Amino acid sequence: MLPAIGGFPTSDAPLFLSGYSELLKVDLSGRKALEICGGFGKLAALLAENFPKAEVIGLDFYVASGSEIDEKLKHLPGLSYVAGDAFDLSTYEPESFDLVFGQAALHHLAHDPVGIASEVSRILKPGGRFVFIFEPMGHNLLVAGIRAMRMARHEMVDESNLFISQFEKMASEFSSCEVQMLNMLGYPMKAFSDRFSLLCQAVHSLDNWLFKTFPSLLRYGANCNLVFTK
Ligand SMILES: C[S@@+](CC[C@H](N)C(=O)[O-])C[C@H]1O[C@@H](n2cnc3c(N)ncnc32)[C@H](O)[C@@H]1O
Repeated sequence: MLPAIGGFPTSDAPLFLSGYSELLKVDLSGRKALEICGGFGKLAALLAENFPKAEVIGLDFYVASGSEIDEKLKHLPGLSYVAGDAFDLSTYEPESFDLVFGQAALHHLAHDPVGIASEVSRILKPGGRFVFIFEPMGHNLLVAGIRAMRMARHEMVDESNLFISQFEKMASEFSSCEVQMLNMLGYPMKAFSDRFSLLCQAVHSLDNWLFKTFPSLLRYGANCNLVFTK
């Protein structure tokens, strides 16, 4: 079971899998990783399970808890959870982490993209990576409209969309920035993707073809993963 945020449609699986493969790309044994905005802490636990010799810290405004997490903490000595603000990482030494990551996180920090980029860059070792998984983009007006309706219906007050210009500002703190874009025509079909999976897979492939053939369309993707390298 993927530690993706609850109830995601099957059409989002490629985005999560691609993001998780970024987290698992570098062997973290004997190294340190920090998850920011970790919520229930399942993704930090997944990383600690994959790298039992790594030190993995999950940070959120609230300390992750629950019987599942208690069980993991008993068996994974390198895993811990702390309460804190992602914008204030002053308790951590400069250049002390190999990986900092967040899932559905950056859009909660988007009011100060340079602030979060410089704070994370400070604690990352040279060559260390800052990875975001499953973030919402705001350039596509159809997508933005559908999301606005969802946010209004569910009274989601702290959600926002992201824009390429914010990534460009953040990139100035790093040596490279890669954006993996997904879901354009596929976005409105998400609601049906579990029932019409073949059709949705076809639209997903069409989106990939469109992105590859017409790179100017990339900014109109609905979701992205981001990889910054220091
Ligand atoms: C959409 S949830 C994502 C949770 C988790 N990453 C997941 O994928 O299930 C966003 C989380 O960000 C946390 N958050 C928002 N702003 C934060 C900040 N400045 N510092 C720490 N956590 C923050 C919230 O408490 C919430 O748990």
